[in-house]
Amino acid sequence: MASSRHSFHIPDSTIYLDGNSLGLMPTGVPGRIRSVMTEEWAEGLISSWSKAGWFDLPITAASRLARLVGVGDDEIAIGDSTSINLFKCLAAGLHARPGRRVIVTEGDNFPTDNYMAQGLAELVPDVELRYFEPDQDPASAVDESVAVVLLSHVDYRSARVRDMVQVTADIHAKGALVLWDLSHTTGAVHCNLAAAGADMAVGCTYKYLNGGPGAPAFAWINPAIIGEVSQPLSGWMGHADPFDFTRSYVPSDGPRRLVCGTPQVISLSALDEALKVWDEVDLDQLWKKSRTMTSLFIEAVEASCSDHGLVLASPRDEAARGSHVSFNYENGFEVMQALAARGVVGDFRAPSTMRFGFAPLYLSFGEVVEAVNHLNEILCNDEWTEPRFAERGVIT
Ligand SMILES: Cc1ncc(COP(=O)(O)O)c(C=O)c1O
Repeated sequence: MASSRHSFHIPDSTIYLDGNSLGLMPTGVPGRIRSVMTEEWAEGLISSWSKAGWFDLPITAASRLARLVGVGDDEIAIGDSTSINLFKCLAAGLHARPGRRVIVTEGDNFPTDNYMAQGLAELVPDVELRYFEPDQDPASAVDESVAVVLLSHVDYRSARVRDMVQVTADIHAKGALVLWDLSHTTGAVHCNLAAAGADMAVGCTYKYLNGGPGAPAFAWINPAIIGEVSQPLSGWMGHADPFDFTRSYVPSDGPRRLVCGTPQVISLSALDEALKVWDEVDLDQLWKKSRTMTSLFIEAVEASCSDHGLVLASPRDEAARGSHVSFNYENGFEVMQALAARGVVGDFRAPSTMRFGFAPLYLSFGEVVEAVNHLNEILCNDEWTEPRFAERGVIT
């Protein structure tokens, strides 16, 4: 696959295995932000809402990522954070299934998914949360009381991938809707929401999509149901005609009804620019590169570091694995710090998970091998035991 590496700023002497948390900065972004500031804002002022396309950015920027998740160009909206979009979509799911009052979610889901569901359940009368455990089939937790099931497509710790087609079909057979969190999927793992007949999806754009810190998130509701569902964050920018200033809210027909308030133009512009990198990317080759890279990493770690007691915490089957690899190790925190001191940046998830992300868009196979060599050296010479590697900050 032709690499898009040249489209990114890569800090010197860095092997970046954290593109699954915050992607690299695309080199086109600073120029775009400069022109948003100096031309569109400073000179264009309020006329830029229409002349520079600010008003439509939630939809036009979103169209650039549509093919990455297998939906039509005019079906997605970008705005707010993933947490807020989870809230909108969960509420939309409850609205679409009147009489059903249960939200099902995985106990081990990414915390914000469950926190947002908890907040909604506290707000809306008679709504309950039901958790299922990692070894349970999500559909087994669904009965006629369940309105919506919230699932991560790729698990943030282990990288386990759910079979979107099968799981969606099993949940639909029991009359509930499915909301997919694609935060660890989009830009690294094959996904076709339309082919799976999925109902709703949300996801981050600052990970594999390289939209930048705090970049706004996306939300999608299947066009087959979007006209029937209502989301409660009915801000004026989701109105069918915001500048009519009518007293009552009338939702826009399409994905714009998922937009709430004024779009975050500066960060949306950065994201829009970052998404241009994807225009030329052969997605099938990209998904393949991700699987080959993660397999190579697992093989190399197990071949060279097996004496040190690292335990693979990701699926061995590449078809069941996303684009990161986790190993459990008691002193994983210290090891990740020691790696970072050598320029190999990954992250740590408590209590003991060392997580390595492989952004296929810009990472090379040579870097994967080099990273494993560093890891092996750190373990062999006990470099991680240096006291400075035990100091903890807020972000791990
Ligand atoms: C699965 C998942 N959902 C949601 C989020 C974050 O949501 P937000 O954009 O609201 O911070 C993350 C962040 O890492 C995540 O991994």
